[in-house]
Amino acid sequence: MLTSLSSVLQKAQKNHYAVGAFNVNNLEFIKAVVEAAEAEHSPVIISTSEGAIDYAGMEELGTIVQIVSKRTNIPIVFHLDHGKKMDLVIDAIESGFYTSIMFDGSTLSYEKNIKQTKELVKLAHKKKISVEAELGAIAGIEDFVSIKERDAHLTSPEQVVDFVKQTGCDALAIAIGTSHGAFKFKQDCRLDFKRLQEIRRGVNVPLVLHGASGVPKTVKHQCLQYGCKIEQAKGVSDVSIKKAVKLGITKVNIDTDLRIAFDAGIRSFLQEYPEIIDPRQIMTHGKELITKVVRQKIRLFGSSKRA
Ligand code: G3H
Ligand code: 13P
Ligand code: ZN
Repeated sequence: MLTSLSSVLQKAQKNHYAVGAFNVNNLEFIKAVVEAAEAEHSPVIISTSEGAIDYAGMEELGTIVQIVSKRTNIPIVFHLDHGKKMDLVIDAIESGFYTSIMFDGSTLSYEKNIKQTKELVKLAHKKKISVEAELGAIAGIEDFVSIKERDAHLTSPEQVVDFVKQTGCDALAIAIGTSHGAFKFKQDCRLDFKRLQEIRRGVNVPLVLHGASGVPKTVKHQCLQYGCKIEQAKGVSDVSIKKAVKLGITKVNIDTDLRIAFDAGIRSFLQEYPEIIDPRQIMTHGKELITKVVRQKIRLFGSSKRA
C-alpha cells in the first residue's frame, strides 16, 4: 500500500528506528526491494533519482510501483530522490505517482534554497505529498583540507532551526561526513556525530542520512572475484549506521550497495553459466542478491516487523 513519507518517518522517530530508502532503476530493482520489505515485514521507501527517470521514465517506474504497492500491505513510500530541477519536481508532484519528493537545493544560496523549498512544500502539501529538503553539502569528511572548510560545507546546526521553520519541510537531509558512491573513505569511516546530536537537539523534523552505503565485504569480494575493479571501495560501517540511528537519523539512503549487489550477481552468473543467454535467468540472479542486501539493511536499521 502506498503511503506518505511523513507517516512512516514519524512512527520510526517515535520508536527509534530508521526506514531504508532504496534507489531503483527498473523492474528488477523494484521487485527486489519490495520482496525484501515483505520478507522483513518492514515499511520501505522506493527512490528514483533524476538519472533513473531519464533512464526508465517517470510514468514507467511510477506505474510499476503503483501496481506492486496495490498487491501488498507493506507501507511503501514512492519518493523522488535529489530533485534539482524545479520543473521535474513539479512534474513529479503533479504526476499522481509520488507520495514524497526531495528537493535538493544544496547547491543554491541559503536564501534561494529556502525560497524554492518553501514553494515546493506549498505545492506538494496541497496533494498530501511529503517534502524532504537538503541543507549542507553531502561530501566526505576527508574531502576537506581544514576544519573551517569542513564547517562551511557540513550542515550548520544553527541554520537548521531557521531552515526548518521557514520552509515547513517534512524531512531534512543533513551533511555529517557521508558522500555518495562506493569510495567514501581512504582511512577509517568517520562521521561528525557531535554535529548530528546538535542538529537533533534543535529540531523535531525527521533527519535523513544520504550516502549511507556500507560496501558489504562479502558482496565486494564477489564483485572483485568476477572482475569488477572496485578494490579501494569503502563505505559507512554498520557500527556508524547504528550509532547514527540511535542519535536520531530516521531515513537512510542506499543506492551503491544495490548496484554492487546487482553487479556481483550478474557477473558471477555469467561466468559460471556462459551457455545461458536468457536475460530472465541472468537478471534474476542480480535481483536475488539485491533482495539479500536490502534485507540485511532493513535489519540493521531496525525496521523489521514494523510494517
Ligand atoms: O544520491 C544519488 C543516487 O545515488 C542516485 O544516483 O543520479 O546516478 O541515479 P544517480
Ligand atoms: P550511496 O551512494 O551511499 O548508496 O547513497 C545513496 C543516496 O544517498 C541516494 O540519495
Ligand atoms: Zn543522496
